[in-house]
Amino acid sequence: MQNTLSEQEIQQLRAETKGTAQRVHFNNAGASLPPDAVLDTVVNYLNEEATYGGYEVEYKYRKEIENTYTLIARLINAEVDEVAIVENASTAWGLAFNGIAFEKGDVVITSEMEYVTNLMGFLHVQKTHGIEIKVIPNDEHGNFSLTALEEAISPKTKLIAITHISSTAGGMIPIVEIGKIARKHHILYLVDACQSAGQVPVDVKEIDCDMLSVTGRKYLRAPRGTGFLYVRKEIQDSLNLIFMDSHTAEWVSQDNYKIRNDARRFELYEKNRALTLGLGKAVEYALNIGVDRIWTRIQYLAGLMRRELESMNGITVHDAGDEQCGIVTFSVDGVDSPTVKNKLAEKQINVSVGKAISTLIYMNKKNLDTVVRASVHYYNTETEINTMCDALRSIIKINPLLTAAQYH
Ligand SMILES: Cc1ncc(COP(=O)(O)O)c(C=O)c1O
Repeated sequence: MQNTLSEQEIQQLRAETKGTAQRVHFNNAGASLPPDAVLDTVVNYLNEEATYGGYEVEYKYRKEIENTYTLIARLINAEVDEVAIVENASTAWGLAFNGIAFEKGDVVITSEMEYVTNLMGFLHVQKTHGIEIKVIPNDEHGNFSLTALEEAISPKTKLIAITHISSTAGGMIPIVEIGKIARKHHILYLVDACQSAGQVPVDVKEIDCDMLSVTGRKYLRAPRGTGFLYVRKEIQDSLNLIFMDSHTAEWVSQDNYKIRNDARRFELYEKNRALTLGLGKAVEYALNIGVDRIWTRIQYLAGLMRRELESMNGITVHDAGDEQCGIVTFSVDGVDSPTVKNKLAEKQINVSVGKAISTLIYMNKKNLDTVVRASVHYYNTETEINTMCDALRSIIKINPLLTAAQYH
């Protein structure tokens, strides 16, 4: 198979995604358009549930439901017993983080690109357990500093928690190199791969992380309300459980229970089986294309978009760092990001607004309240990028401030 997607394949993949005929969708970091096969899987399952009964249909599809775990394990190079399926990345991350037995004085090291939910998680445990939070700032080129990380580590360091790809910037954090440092110092390592799974090859053995959280709806193209957690087998017993039910543990006698022997101890029994199957179908779809090929295509499209935007007067691209992904962030001089988003939406172009609150440390440092976020997936095209850039040119032209300053 060739390393990049051919024109013919792109057309085929677009034909299998009904949404691509309706909109130019550059909000893949919010939620991607699902392949029709994912949608059909969910709808058909719900129809069968309504017709034959929820438990009966679960039994009928038990092998396919089980296969979702196998597919996720293949996607991230984990073992099947290291995967728990949950509703979203926040649940996955929270189950892992809050399962850690923190003590007063423990230190958590993170980066300036960390996601809001995770930062609030740190602050909460700072209040309840007296932990210390150390934030490693990016260097002047926008790269994470491995030297600064090494210097920050002390015998008190309990956890390194890193968001691989932030929600409001195109730069990436070197999670494999960080994993080597975490392992060398025997420090727990938690990775937020919410924006990376389905976009970039994610291999938990190569990253050497202990825990990894993922959502389904973003680059994996699964339905909303899906996600999963990876927990390395060796540390499962050391994490506290936040919730329990008879799926998490077996009730062995009136006053005792036995926690199950795999990562499914972190999930509860009741969940939406249609969505679990939809997640499985989406993962299978990505595996069939090949995540390495997806990644090559995304880098190509995002590079093209950045170059095009950078060549336009009145646009500032904010992404920095040596390695950049499919999330392209920019501002239009004199036009606020929500207005840019709304004006593009009038032309059936979906982008989103990246708010400071999502990545507060980074956005404050850059003095940014908002950015326009145009996030590409492999099914986007060069023509769609041109369509967006043309629409942006007309937004710039009708802005009287800019017209006066730069066009007269
Ligand atoms: C980097 C990152 N981590 C975590 C999350 C939370 O994901 P979820 O909404 O699935 O809980 C997001 C959502 O945008 C995100 O961008």
